[in-house]
Amino acid sequence: MILETPRLTLRPFLDRDAEDVYAYAKDPRVGPAAGWPPHTSVENSLEIIRTVFAAPTVFALVDQESGKVIGSAGFVGRHHTELPGPDEELGYALSPEFWGRGLMTEAAWELIRWGFEELGLCTIWCNHYEGNERSRRVIEKCGFHHQFSQEETVELMGERRLTHYYALSRKDWAARQAVKQ
Ligand SMILES: CC(C)(COP(=O)(O)OP(=O)(O)OC[C@H]1O[C@@H](n2cnc3c(N)ncnc32)[C@H](O)[C@@H]1OP(=O)(O)O)[C@@H](O)C(=O)NCCC(=O)NCCS
Repeated sequence: MILETPRLTLRPFLDRDAEDVYAYAKDPRVGPAAGWPPHTSVENSLEIIRTVFAAPTVFALVDQESGKVIGSAGFVGRHHTELPGPDEELGYALSPEFWGRGLMTEAAWELIRWGFEELGLCTIWCNHYEGNERSRRVIEKCGFHHQFSQEETVELMGERRLTHYYALSRKDWAARQAVKQ
């Protein structure tokens, strides 16, 4: 499965992406904000590509200009019961070199379209930890609504954090689509 946005190609990860992934995932500004430790080597990135990133709903974000993999985004296989399903949870991370250009909002918007139109989802969830204002803005710009917040253990980081959960229904998404067109 390949998805296109004006500036990005979203495609499955390949083993040969390990160097590109390591180049941004070793940066301490990236993983810890999303709940995972910085990658420690190219081999570590390869292992993540072959495990976490091997899910068919997780995509490599390829910068169309350079052809490099500059991030990841997709549905992480976590489900919730509070709102009608089928549902999925959106997760993402981007190389800091590319922050603040609206790229993740662009990728997220296409994944949301894919999720509702092709996967038949009814609700898409997203969350961010307290203090992650960049992610909060992406979530807000995509039209998600805050549902609840709770303290959680972040397993990979060995700490507890306040986590803010948001959801977007297919109905609300369709209404925003109509306004955009
Ligand atoms: C979260 C992340 C994906 C955002 O990517 P991005 O492409 O920079 O996002 P966008 O450019 O679409 O939007 C970022 C928004 O944050 C705003 N922003 C940037 N720095 C900010 C700051 N210090 N405080 C508040 N807002 C800030 C930007 O202005 C922009 O909002 P705007 O369009 O209203 O101006 C990226 O920062 C990242 O990978 N962070 C580390 C991993 C992570 O946190 N993943 C998400 C886990 S929930």
